[in-house]
Amino acid sequence: MATVLAVFLMVGCRGTGNDFQSAFHPASVEAREMAGLGWMMVAVYGSVFFGTMGLVVLALVNRRSNGEAPGGSDRFVLVAGMVVPTVILVGMLVVSLRVSAAMRAPETAFRIEVTGNFWWWEVRYPDHGIVTANEIRIPVGVPVRLELKSRDVIHSFWVPNLHGKMDMLPDQMNQFWLRADREGVYRGTCAEFCGGQHARMGIDVVALSEDGFEQWVQERTRTREPGDARGKELFFSTGCAACHAVGGTQAVSNLGPDLTHMADRLNLAASTLPNTRENLKRWIVDPQSIKPLSLMPPTEIGPEELEALLDYLQTLK
Ligand code: CUA
Repeated sequence: MATVLAVFLMVGCRGTGNDFQSAFHPASVEAREMAGLGWMMVAVYGSVFFGTMGLVVLALVNRRSNGEAPGGSDRFVLVAGMVVPTVILVGMLVVSLRVSAAMRAPETAFRIEVTGNFWWWEVRYPDHGIVTANEIRIPVGVPVRLELKSRDVIHSFWVPNLHGKMDMLPDQMNQFWLRADREGVYRGTCAEFCGGQHARMGIDVVALSEDGFEQWVQERTRTREPGDARGKELFFSTGCAACHAVGGTQAVSNLGPDLTHMADRLNLAASTLPNTRENLKRWIVDPQSIKPLSLMPPTEIGPEELEALLDYLQTLK
């Protein structure tokens, strides 16, 4: 029963991206190996469960008229109680070791640093000069080395369609890797309880064609246009710049997500809301109603100024 329930729980998580967030919809070598092992475990241990229950029912039905259970033969007890479990456990051990061996990190020069924060992810491409948040873009078919850290408590990086989990620790960098077989958006989530908004600490991995990725890098690193002047002024006067950086401006704080390319992202507030003007407005005015305990404070701003600020933010591509 527990196995069946676990399967429903694992396949039942829908993300905001275009791919079903599930370890049973693999889109990489690693995820496929793990999904294979998962299904095998469901089949083998499910059969053991139903087989055992079948024997219990049989025993109850064949109960002797005096209420005593019939004694099985010694041979049956030996085979069903020792030989069968030993064969099953050794067999599953061999399969698990084979899957572990297939999990060797691939050689790659492409690295991305991901840092966990209360409750968002900082993403840096040190070799491309790109800083972003809550979204990782990678080229299809190219393994990417991830350097995982945390700025506060222990988080855990988990994009189930692509790989297993890896802890993000405050005092040590953990290496991990990702690769995607096909283009798509794969939603991930923090897999270690980390406080009030652990459940809304999502991340989107966008796998692009190699050309698409190159184009994205070029767009992200080109010289920026100045953007809406009034909105930019408001970005500083209303206090946004105290926590958020925007490349090419005086805003350099990294307390909150870097907003240099925020208009380009799929979602807001760590994959909590689709990135639309309406949601951005709600998030700026009253973030606590969307993510209580989030470190983002509400912004006191008049309706006209708010529109100008939104105009500015929506030019940040
Ligand atoms: Cu971060 Cu849970």
